Amino acid sequence: MRRKEFLKSMALLSISTFLPNIKAKNFESNLENFKEKISKLNPLDGKFWKLIREQFPIPKDYTYLNTGGLGSSPYVVSQKVKEEMDNLDRYPTPNHDLEKWWKIKEKCAGLFGCDKEEIAFVGCATEGINIVVNGLPLKKGDEVILTTHEHVAGNLPLLNRAKRDGIVLKTFEPDKVNWETNLERIEKLITKKTRLIFVSHITCTAGQRLPEKEICKLAKDKGLWVFLDGAQVPGMMPINVHEYNCDFYTTSGHKWLLGPKRTGILYVKKENLDIVQPLTVGGYSDAGYSVEKNELKFQPSAQRFEYGTQNPALFFGLETAIDFINLIGIENIWEHDRQLAEAFYQELLKIPNVEVLSPEQEDFRTAMITFKMKNMPYDKVVAYLMEKRIRVRPVTDGNLMAVRVSFHVYNNEMDVAKILNEIKNLAKS
Ligand SMILES: Cc1ncc(COP(=O)(O)O)c(C=O)c1O
Repeated sequence: MRRKEFLKSMALLSISTFLPNIKAKNFESNLENFKEKISKLNPLDGKFWKLIREQFPIPKDYTYLNTGGLGSSPYVVSQKVKEEMDNLDRYPTPNHDLEKWWKIKEKCAGLFGCDKEEIAFVGCATEGINIVVNGLPLKKGDEVILTTHEHVAGNLPLLNRAKRDGIVLKTFEPDKVNWETNLERIEKLITKKTRLIFVSHITCTAGQRLPEKEICKLAKDKGLWVFLDGAQVPGMMPINVHEYNCDFYTTSGHKWLLGPKRTGILYVKKENLDIVQPLTVGGYSDAGYSVEKNELKFQPSAQRFEYGTQNPALFFGLETAIDFINLIGIENIWEHDRQLAEAFYQELLKIPNVEVLSPEQEDFRTAMITFKMKNMPYDKVVAYLMEKRIRVRPVTDGNLMAVRVSFHVYNNEMDVAKILNEIKNLAKS
């Protein structure tokens, strides 16, 4: 029954996609033109964000609040991908240009706060997680600590390893009231057999930021590896993996970075490159091999985790997306997204019949806010909002049975007002 209602609302959505698309007049498909326009505006001025909104094909009457699920790409990015695809079809070349590849990695390294040699391009965060979780030398009985709020992309590779090799998974419930308690909860689970702490940097459930530096310090003090799943972070918030001192970090290009779909970035700290065994290898993974001599030397960099023919157009598109983000300024984005999320959060608290699940401590709230209604199941709320052309995400992960709302560069105060208005209507029903 519930599924039926959800499908019905999806059908409504797909019909609406046949309606004439209300295209923005002021969009740019050339980054230089966008650069010129944005450089004349001030991020404190609404015109700055209006110009940004106009760079996306999202219809004007559609309130898209699910960047945590998938980001929309600006025209400059899709145009770049199309151009590069056309070039490749004009002059098919099986080998991607490694010089350009390294330049893109340099930009990613700038965004991550690491060296380009520590970056591997992957298809998505799920792939990044799998590379590390499958490649780490873990044996039967070794323990991994994770939250009960991990995404399926973290849970499944770990469970798969548990099934295959007998590693043991130990979970803790993230405390949304007190960040220090989260450290205590992790510490309580650490034993002589613990090898890895695997946590989302920002949870996909309540949009909770976990205390990254403190968790990494705890892990290092205890001699453990630490993996921060950053699928929900770069593009929303400034990060610095060297400062965090984490061992592994991964993200998807197609969420907050606004990049092409099926792009991802994996960071592996230099000293861990020889520790993670590359399990899927091929052309580009090696720095020389000989079948006759039974020899194989991996690339000295994280390139060893890449293999086979690439679609370079996607990563050229990711480069443009990072340029686009840098032109706006990641600090400006964080400020903008947080302001919208904060306005939403504060108003939600006042609505009767609403339970807010995002952290009580402001420092750990992000651009994603999660709530549930006391008088209506989450899936009905999602379906109702969809009928009003407001797209949010149902959260069943961690058994939350709630609704998650994401705010990003293309959102504005009107989007906040629109969803709040509908939630108020639901609260009265
Ligand atoms: C915390 C977290 N990790 C991993 C993923 C998986 O991302 P992808 O499907 O792009 O690999 C998601 C997706 O929402 C996520 O929220």
